[in-house]
Amino acid sequence: MKTIIYSKDDLRKQKVRDHIKKTLLHGKNVVFPTETVYGIGAYALSEEGVKGIYKVKGRPSDNPLIMHITDIKQLSLYVTKVLPYVTKLIEAFWPGPLTLVFPKSEIVPSIITGGLNTVAIRVPSNHIAREIINIAGVPICAPSANISGRPSSTKTAHVIKDFNGLVDIIVDGGKSEIGLESTVLDVTQDVPVILRPGMITKKMISDIVGEVRVSGEIKKDDVPKAPGMKYKHYAPSGNLTIVQGDNKKVVEYINEKLDLHKMNSERACVITTKEQSKLIDSEYKYIIGDENNELEIASNLFAALREMDDLNIQYIYSVSFNKGEYQEAIMNRLIKAANKNIVDL
Ligand code: TXA
Ligand code: MG
Repeated sequence: MKTIIYSKDDLRKQKVRDHIKKTLLHGKNVVFPTETVYGIGAYALSEEGVKGIYKVKGRPSDNPLIMHITDIKQLSLYVTKVLPYVTKLIEAFWPGPLTLVFPKSEIVPSIITGGLNTVAIRVPSNHIAREIINIAGVPICAPSANISGRPSSTKTAHVIKDFNGLVDIIVDGGKSEIGLESTVLDVTQDVPVILRPGMITKKMISDIVGEVRVSGEIKKDDVPKAPGMKYKHYAPSGNLTIVQGDNKKVVEYINEKLDLHKMNSERACVITTKEQSKLIDSEYKYIIGDENNELEIASNLFAALREMDDLNIQYIYSVSFNKGEYQEAIMNRLIKAANKNIVDL
């Protein structure tokens, strides 16, 4: 298959708009940017399009997809209940990086919900994402545009690497602004439950609705967790270790390890902050951002993990990022990518 890559400006051309619409309505896939990460999209009510997503991503069929819409009025078509506190959350955070899980209506096919009786819905704020949904004129399912288990994509080069030749269209939107996927919040019960942390934080949600729970802090059988959370995630090919604790010890440990790998002719690299990098004695450093700029760290995390693969790094060390209100979202991804391989010093 030949993949056509369109730029943002191409979207103004009627011919391109027609091509995108036809592709989606005919059950094919279009990769496009959102404010969080790139998504691989299909017309949500097209079985062929949705099956295509599972196939090219290699995604397990019980891991449900998020339905993306632009017109909030359409929500009532796809969900059966919107509790009063949820209306407040919608007013505060839509459009934006918050996905809400509702009881689903009958027209939502079970293929997109992995057989669950709930549906995850998000209203993106990114202009290109909105344009694509509006061009199609239908709801668009879009998981993160990465091969299952691998880091999500935050740049066009990433999606080209994963999906060139596998999808009909890729829309180039430059670098994702946020860089981590949306917060997923179950709003089917009286108390909302965070299933996946993101840039809409627990505090931001509780400032509006009061009590909020976090999946994992509660008993296993209480509420359904995001099925996707049980699968391997974000993993680079190399062996990733998070090193945390006393700053001096962390730097010593990493320097020692890097020396050892060098002696053994193994390729090793450290993901670190601008400040800490000055203390690390190796040319193999990936500077993810300023230690006080968590937005920069968040937006570069997936790119860092992908870069390790591009450089064929066998052993990756990362410092942990424990500052600021987004640390939970950042560390959630990093710990999964490391498969919980953490050295505490
Ligand atoms: O920012 C995002 O949310 C990106 C962009 C492209 O919009 N999308 C994304 O989709 O991250 P995906 O498929 O990679 O992650 C969706 C997560 C998975 O963990 C999935 O299990 C969970 O949402 N999810 C989807 N539907 C659900 C449902 N009905 N109940 C519980 N969890 C659900
Ligand atoms: Mg994903």
